[in-house]
Amino acid sequence: MSFRARLALVAAAAVALAVLTASFVIYFVVRDQLRATVDDSLKTTAAQLREAPPHDFEHFATPAGELGGATVYPQGVDSAGRVFLPPGAKVSLPVNSGVIAVARGERGAFFSETRVGKTHLRVLTFPYGTGGAVEVARSLTEVDHSLGRIENLLILIAGSGIAIAAGLGLAVSRAALAPVRRLTTATEKVTETGDLSERIEVGGRDELSRLAGSFNTMLGALQESSRAQRQLVADASHELRTPLTSLRTNIEVLASERTLPAGERERLLSDVVEQLTEMTTLISELIDLARGEQQMAKPEEVRLDLVACEAVERARRNRPAVTFTTNLQESTVQGVPSTIERAVANLLDNAAKWSPPGGDVEVAVRDGEVSVRDHGPGIDEEDLPYVFDRFYRSRSARGRPGSGLGLAIVRQVAVAHGGEVVAEPADGGGTRMTLRLNGGS
Ligand SMILES: Nc1ncnc2c1ncn2[C@@H]1O[C@H](COP(=O)(O)OP(=O)(O)O)[C@@H](O)[C@H]1O
Ligand SMILES: [Mg+2]
Repeated sequence: MSFRARLALVAAAAVALAVLTASFVIYFVVRDQLRATVDDSLKTTAAQLREAPPHDFEHFATPAGELGGATVYPQGVDSAGRVFLPPGAKVSLPVNSGVIAVARGERGAFFSETRVGKTHLRVLTFPYGTGGAVEVARSLTEVDHSLGRIENLLILIAGSGIAIAAGLGLAVSRAALAPVRRLTTATEKVTETGDLSERIEVGGRDELSRLAGSFNTMLGALQESSRAQRQLVADASHELRTPLTSLRTNIEVLASERTLPAGERERLLSDVVEQLTEMTTLISELIDLARGEQQMAKPEEVRLDLVACEAVERARRNRPAVTFTTNLQESTVQGVPSTIERAVANLLDNAAKWSPPGGDVEVAVRDGEVSVRDHGPGIDEEDLPYVFDRFYRSRSARGRPGSGLGLAIVRQVAVAHGGEVVAEPADGGGTRMTLRLNGGS
C-alpha cells in the first residue's frame, strides 16, 4: 500500500473511531434516559398500589389499561403462581420463577423485560401483601421507536463522517506528500541522466522543505566534487603529456643515432634522468592532490611546532646552500600530521628554491600558524592571485624544475583544516607565506 493511502487510512480510522465512540455514547445515554422515564412511571404505580389497601387480589381494584399503550398494566401473582388479573383485563403477563420467588418473599423487587405477543414490555415485579407479588408492565414500543430513529440517524452521521474523513485524509496526504513526490522525481531524474545540476524548488521552512534544501546542498557538493575531479584529470593528463613527449624524443634520439658525440650522449642521458625525476615528483604530487579530494583522515592533536621542526630539518639536509632560522613556539592544532607536514615542506621548498645562494629563510610557528619568509625576488603582483592554482607557474619559474602543484596542495591542506594560506610580499623584499590552521574539520 502506498504511503499516501496509509496516511489517508490512518486519518480516516482516527475520525471513524471518534465518530463511532461518540455515537455509542449518545445511543446508550439516550436509551438509559428513555428507560428511566418508563421505570419511574412503573415505580410510581408500584408505590400507589402498595399504599392503597386492602392488599388482597380479590379486591385488586386497579383497572387494566390497554396493553401496549402509555398506561401501566398490573397483574397479581400468589406464591403458588396463580395469576389475578384486574377487572376487564384479557391478557396475562408471563410468570417465571423470579416472580414466584418475590411472591414467596425470597427475593426483592426487580425490573425485567419481556414480550407479550408483539409488544415489548418493561416489567417491575414487587412483593405485595402477604404471600403475593404484583407485576406492573409498560410498553417499550415508543422507546424502541425513538431509539430506532436515533440509531438510523447515528449510522447516517457515522457513515458520512467516515466517508468525509477518508476523502479529507486523501486530500491532506496528497498535499503533504507533494514535496516528497517532487523529491522523488528529482532523484529519479538525477539517476537517469546523471545530471547533478538538477535542483528542487524549495518553498517554506518545514521539515520537508529542509529535506529538499539539504538534498540540493548534497547535489551541489557532489557536482563540485565531480567537477574538481574531472578538472584534475584533465589538467593532469595535459601536464603529463608534455614531459612524456620530450622524454620520448630524447630516448628515440638515444636509440637511433648511434654516431652521437660522446658529450651529447651524456647530456641526453642526464636529461632523461632529470625528466624522470620530475615526472616522479609530479605524479606523487598528483596523487597527493587526488587523495586530498577524498575524505580527510581522522584528525588528531598535532604539535605544529614539532611538525615544522622536522620539516625544517629535512629541508636543511636537501638544501645546504640555504640557511633556515626558526622561531617555533609551542602550538597545538587538530589535524592530520602527514598532510600538514607535506604543506609546510612545500612552503620551505619554494622558499629555498627562490632564495639567492646563501640566503636566509625564516620559519615561525605561533597560534596554529606557520609563516615562511624568504629573501628571494618575491612574487609579481600579477601572479599573486594565481600561485595557489593547480599547475600555475609564473613566467620566471618556467626555466626551473617544478610542477606548479606545490602551493595547490598547500591550499588544499589549509582548506581541509578549516584554515587558509596567504602569500604576501615581505617588508624589505622576498615573500612571506602564512599557513593558518584553525583546528581542522
Ligand atoms: N617563495 C616564492 N618566491 C617567489 N615565487 C614563488 C614562491 N613560492 C611560489 N612562487 C611562485 O608560485 C608558483 C607556484 O608555486 P608552486 O605551486 O609551489 O609550484 P612550483 O614550485 O612547482 O613552481 C611558482 O611557480 C612561483 O612562480
Ligand atoms: Mg613548489
